[in-house]
Parts: sequence; C-alpha cells; structure tokens
Amino acid sequence: TKHLLGIKNLTEDDLQLILDTAANFKEVINRPIKKVPSLRDITIANVFFENSTRTRLSFELAEKRLSADVVNFSSANSSVKKGETLVDTVNNILSMKVDMVVMRHSSPGAPHFLSRNVNANIVNAGDGTHEHPTQALLDSFSIKEKLGDVAGKKVAIIGDILHSRVALSNIFCLQKLGAEVMVCGPITLLPKYIASLGVKVELDVKKALQWCDVANVLRIQLERQQIKYFPSLREYSLYYGINKKLLSQLDKEIVIMHPGPINRGVELSSDVADSDHSIILEQVQNGVAVRMAVLYLLAGTKG
Ligand code: CP
Repeated sequence: TKHLLGIKNLTEDDLQLILDTAANFKEVINRPIKKVPSLRDITIANVFFENSTRTRLSFELAEKRLSADVVNFSSANSSVKKGETLVDTVNNILSMKVDMVVMRHSSPGAPHFLSRNVNANIVNAGDGTHEHPTQALLDSFSIKEKLGDVAGKKVAIIGDILHSRVALSNIFCLQKLGAEVMVCGPITLLPKYIASLGVKVELDVKKALQWCDVANVLRIQLERQQIKYFPSLREYSLYYGINKKLLSQLDKEIVIMHPGPINRGVELSSDVADSDHSIILEQVQNGVAVRMAVLYLLAGTKG
C-alpha cells in the first residue's frame, strides 16, 4: 500500500514488518551518528490541522534522521483561514515537489479522502475520533520492548474510549498481534458498538487493573465533546483516577502507559506517571523509530 491510513486494514505481517524495521532504526538512532541517508531527495510535508506536540515533533525528527527534506504546515496560521480547501492546500504544497504528506485533521476520514484526491503517499497522524495508527504502533512496540512480546498479554485501555482514536487503533493493533484487550471507563464514555469489536468491557477500574498486564490510560477529551457528558473531571478522577494507593492494592505489578498529554491528577496521579511502573517517556522515544519505519517502508512504494 502507498498510504498508512489506519491499522484496521493491515495484516499481522504488515505490523510485524513495521515493528521489526522500527527495532532496527531504534538501534541506529541510539548511535552517536543518528542519521541515515535512506530518504535523501524525498521531501515530506507535515500538515497539521490540529494541535500536537509528540506526533508532530517525532515525525519531524524521524524525517530528519532519515535525511528527508521537511516542511511544516499548521492550519492555524495558513491560508485555510482565508477559506482554502484541504485538497487545494495539499495540491499547492505538492506542486513544490513534495513527495509525502503526514496529516493530522479533526475530521474522521480526512486522510482517506485526501488519499483519493491527491498524488502522494499519505500518513494519518490522527483523524478526529477515528484512528491514530502510528500511536498504536509505538504503543505495541513499547509493550514488546518492556514485556518481550505483545501476543498473550492482557491490555486494558482505560478512559474516554468514545472520543479516542488512540483506543480504536490500539484495539485493532493489539488484537492482530495476539493480545487480549479490555476497555474500561464510565458507560457514558464507551461507544455503543464497542463489544462488537471483540474486547472485554469493564466499568470498575479496580477490576480492570487487577486483570491486566498493561494499562493504557487515556485522558478525557473535553475538546471533542459535542454535548456535556457525565462525569465531570472531578468525578472522573474520584471514580477512575489511577494513583499509587490503587496500584498498591493489586497483587501484582502492572505497566502503565499513556499517549499524552497527561492531565495530572485527573486520569493519572503524578506518583504513578513518574514512577517505575510508567513507560510513558519510553513510548515517546519509541515514536521516532516507529515513524522512521513507517516513512521508510512507504517511500519504497513510490513510483
Ligand atoms: N500522543 C499524541 O498524539 O500526542 P500529541 O497530540 O501531542 O501529538
């Protein structure tokens, strides 16, 4: 395939190839000379219609480590504000001899639409509440690095599943790699179709933590809520917030993950986020190697 639009249509072999390639790149970027010439003469545009810290910077670093030329576009200070369409915007960028587009957009399906209407490799860096494929890949890479494998592991995704593209991409990725997946959160923040995806559903966070090997903790995405959902942040923290005391009541050690940004004191307390349980900064570090792998493999499909 020419594009990375989501995890849903990838095979286990596709995922394993990306993870193996990322492991090679992680070795490369840990060396004193971090740069390789693989994407020399390839130009990549990072096109962001939504805010980002980790995804945008790690794509840019991945591109630079691969020796690609990079341009960054942010809709907030662009001619989108004068009414220019998505396709016109991207076609204007491509006319300057750009080869690949990494795009984040608030509308689910926007990268799929783009892939049918412009001539470039498209990488989805998060489309609304739909998918965030490179996040799921870096999460699985981090689980494999920490626990040796993804297959056979029990992963609980805890929080605002309804508004989360990280949850959906993780469910697809983890299941294809052979993990068992549970989602946990207030019933108002679980999509009605969720059980049809073959995941366990748990409303009690203590039971979810007791069941899992890995808890992937998500924030409440207030910016995506069209109507005001129960619970409030204060109530969420009271009933679902994960803290050291809660973890000390388990009869085992679990791994804590979070895609960021963390709302400290809401879904996760600082004494957990900054503890030895947490691999949150390892996830961010692995994002660069995983994104290098994705760009490298897609560049091989050009022409
Ligand atoms: N995890 C993630 O997508 O973070 P950003 O929104 O900061 O890119």
